[in-house]
Amino acid sequence: MPEPAISSPRPRVLSGMRPTGKLHLGNYMGALANWVKLQNSAQYECYFFIADWHALTTDYADPSRIAPNTLDVMLDYLAAGLDPARSVLFLQSKVLQHAELYLLLGMITPVGWLERVPSYKDQQKNLSNRDLSNFGFLGYPVLMASDILMYQPQFVPVGNDQTAHVELTREVARRFNQFYKPAAAGKLDGQEVLPEPQVLLTPSPQLPGTDGRKMSKSYGNTILLTDPEPVVRQKLKTMVTDPARIRRTDPGDPDKCPVGDLHKVFSTPETLANVYEGCRSAGIGCIECKSWAADALVQVLEPIQARRAGFSEKLVKEIIEEGSSRARVRAEETMQKVRAAMQMT
Ligand code: TRP
Ligand code: SF4
Repeated sequence: MPEPAISSPRPRVLSGMRPTGKLHLGNYMGALANWVKLQNSAQYECYFFIADWHALTTDYADPSRIAPNTLDVMLDYLAAGLDPARSVLFLQSKVLQHAELYLLLGMITPVGWLERVPSYKDQQKNLSNRDLSNFGFLGYPVLMASDILMYQPQFVPVGNDQTAHVELTREVARRFNQFYKPAAAGKLDGQEVLPEPQVLLTPSPQLPGTDGRKMSKSYGNTILLTDPEPVVRQKLKTMVTDPARIRRTDPGDPDKCPVGDLHKVFSTPETLANVYEGCRSAGIGCIECKSWAADALVQVLEPIQARRAGFSEKLVKEIIEEGSSRARVRAEETMQKVRAAMQMT
């Protein structure tokens, strides 16, 4: 077997999350599991980070949760299988070059582009308990563009909710490359300073939470990656089901039931067949059906929780430090090209 060619440059992949606190199964299926796959394919040089400055755009009035949440998220990254020996795992605020690139890209980004980003007005409405008329919140997509363009990734694996941001990143890159050419054109083979990245859409079914709505921290309907088995089983017990199945003798339809949706994602084909058969014929009760779903979830969570137990807080902090120094080296290389192209040397 040939060794993976570590020294020859592989295409890069970059993605990140805000430090929202302990991650849930929706985060895992919607992003993290896919990142682990990309990492383990060994086809890409992988960069995964925690966007703690992004958390400040909405939580500036009370930043007390950001640092503890950062540790929790990094621990979940590691528990899910991201590996500091195979991926660069870093913290945004430890790579100050992101702030510099954000400032420079801010100079060329029309305000109208930012006002048109769909999440801008949506979030202002949804988070109406906070004042989001701050400059940082409007500029959020420019910061995200800096996070991405800093590492010239070919792909940015994200969920659907982030594609508009990556699209804006591409537009900012295009505008940059129109204004500024590489300073050492010969050496760079006429390559653009900030190549446009592509979205790599995470193929993931939307995971229902215990109330049947999309699993989301803000709905309080999540199953956490850290939930112990009894908690998972308890949460499943209270999960909503097909509303047509009122009595045990009423037949139901797994296609109209959030528990059925969980089975579709996590259960074996045999179990799924039993769910369809038993539910539609009222041959099984919801309690039994839910216990099967819990079995499948526990199987997914067990290895994650076992891996998590191997990381102390001290080790997580060391991993963040080490990964961030590696990211800084790459980031500084980019900034030297950017500064030169903008004649800021
Ligand atoms: N905006 C992303 C989120 O809210 C986090 C993020 C920040 C990100 N910068 C990024 C994701 C760069 C991918 C690439 O989850
Ligand atoms: Fe849902 Fe299962 Fe009950 Fe059918 S048997 S309604 S799929 S929980």
